[in-house]
Amino acid sequence: MAQAHPYRVPLAVAVLSTPAALVLAVLVIAGALPAAHALGGMAVIVAGMTLLVVWHVTSVRAVTQYVERLRRNQDEARVPDPPAIRSPGLDPDLVSAIADSARERERRRAELRAAAERLQTVLAALPDPLLMLDARGRIAATNPAARQLFGDNLAGRTLPSVLRNPDLLSAVDAVLRDGEAGQNVEFNVHGSVERTFATRVEPLPSPGPDGSAAIVSLHDVTAIRRAERMRADFVANASHELRTPLSSLVGFVETLEGPARGDAEAMERFLPIMREQAERMSNLVEDLLSLSRIELDEHAVPETTAELGPLLGRVVEGLALKAQDKDMAIELSGADALPPVQGDSSQLTQVFQNLIDNALKYGRPGTSVAVRAETPDNGRAVGRHGQTRAVAVSVIDTGEGIPREHIPRLTERFYRVDKARSREMGGTGLGLAIVKHIVSRHRGRLEIASEEGRGSRFTVYLPRAEGAQTGRAAA
Ligand SMILES: Nc1ncnc2c1ncn2[C@@H]1O[C@H](COP(=O)(O)OP(=O)(O)OP(=O)(O)O)[C@@H](O)[C@H]1O
Ligand SMILES: [Mg+2]
Repeated sequence: MAQAHPYRVPLAVAVLSTPAALVLAVLVIAGALPAAHALGGMAVIVAGMTLLVVWHVTSVRAVTQYVERLRRNQDEARVPDPPAIRSPGLDPDLVSAIADSARERERRRAELRAAAERLQTVLAALPDPLLMLDARGRIAATNPAARQLFGDNLAGRTLPSVLRNPDLLSAVDAVLRDGEAGQNVEFNVHGSVERTFATRVEPLPSPGPDGSAAIVSLHDVTAIRRAERMRADFVANASHELRTPLSSLVGFVETLEGPARGDAEAMERFLPIMREQAERMSNLVEDLLSLSRIELDEHAVPETTAELGPLLGRVVEGLALKAQDKDMAIELSGADALPPVQGDSSQLTQVFQNLIDNALKYGRPGTSVAVRAETPDNGRAVGRHGQTRAVAVSVIDTGEGIPREHIPRLTERFYRVDKARSREMGGTGLGLAIVKHIVSRHRGRLEIASEEGRGSRFTVYLPRAEGAQTGRAAA
């Protein structure tokens, strides 16, 4: 604030009193007023003027100090009350106008601050990572999602030190350096798991207070791309699996219609093969439908209770003939003392049918398959909230085993260790995928352990029905 003139009051009094002094002087010179009276009058006038000027100057100073207080005011919620103005030389509306404009300014400031806070909250709540870049391409600000992905202390770092993708960097260059419009880039980030990001680089209309000139928003599309790839693979696999028996069938039909027409012996030989191929197609379609039905209600945990003991007994009985054909036996143990589990009987039947069928298929002739049911006390809990105690059923064979690298992929659809061999045995590679989806619907767990040359153990953990006790009484 400019300093007030030190002689402001005497100067103002002198200026204001000059006309009266001149009039009195003229009157004294004209002999109309005695000099003593004139001097007395002049003293009264100077005193009055001084009072008036001091009064006015005090009021002006009060207004000046008020404006200065407003300027310094940090407490935005409250605008100080204006001073009382008594000087007749100042319009009282002046100070109330100043106060009103200050209140209006504070209101706008509060609105702007609230809008900025809202924006901050929105950015913080966004699940997509955001990086604000300054004009030189350095990170000016980030949101929590970005910090979670790339770590803390991002501010001030260059973009390539965080994300080294050439397509992204050239999109940022195009926006920041060449002033081009927003750009879209999709790229993979290689970390412990590979992730795909659909990214938008957008210039800001004007630089932000933190210097940000462009925003980079990353949207994780890993799951979408994976689902797209899986869908494409699935269609390709399913068509391939259907085409193989179909082309064999068509081949036989053409032979029977052409060169082997009326050949009873060929017919006799071909018909069982044709039936087998047709059954294979039908099994495949059945498995595919079953899988899609299970997937449809995978989110809905079965509300019914299943008695695992009798269920396992029926499955083992149903496969006894197949075991016999291969000179194998199925030994069921622990099934008569099982508590009920929370589950869908027909789906659980499918699970154990598939597992025991595999054990017979990939087991060695002359050996037996053990189906062992237990109620482990210290096993990891399963169930809807991960707290329910489990019933464990293991299907153990002493067959060829599974090489370690294949184990994590066994439950993928159509995945087979030896495609040709499995197909030869009528397998489609959907059995374990069905098992996995049913077990996951039951909020259970599937564990696979195998040793090459020694055999495999497939263990299914299922949550006990709520309130179920271990023991014969509950079975
Ligand atoms: N007990 C086992 N011993 C050795 N390998 C096994 C065993 N169970 C499964 N596998 C391997 O896992 C693969 C996938 O099994 P899955 O049950 O999904 O398919 P599949 O048995 O080939 O066909 P299907 O759809 O008729 O069940 C099998 O092809 C086989 O390579
Ligand atoms: Mg199988």
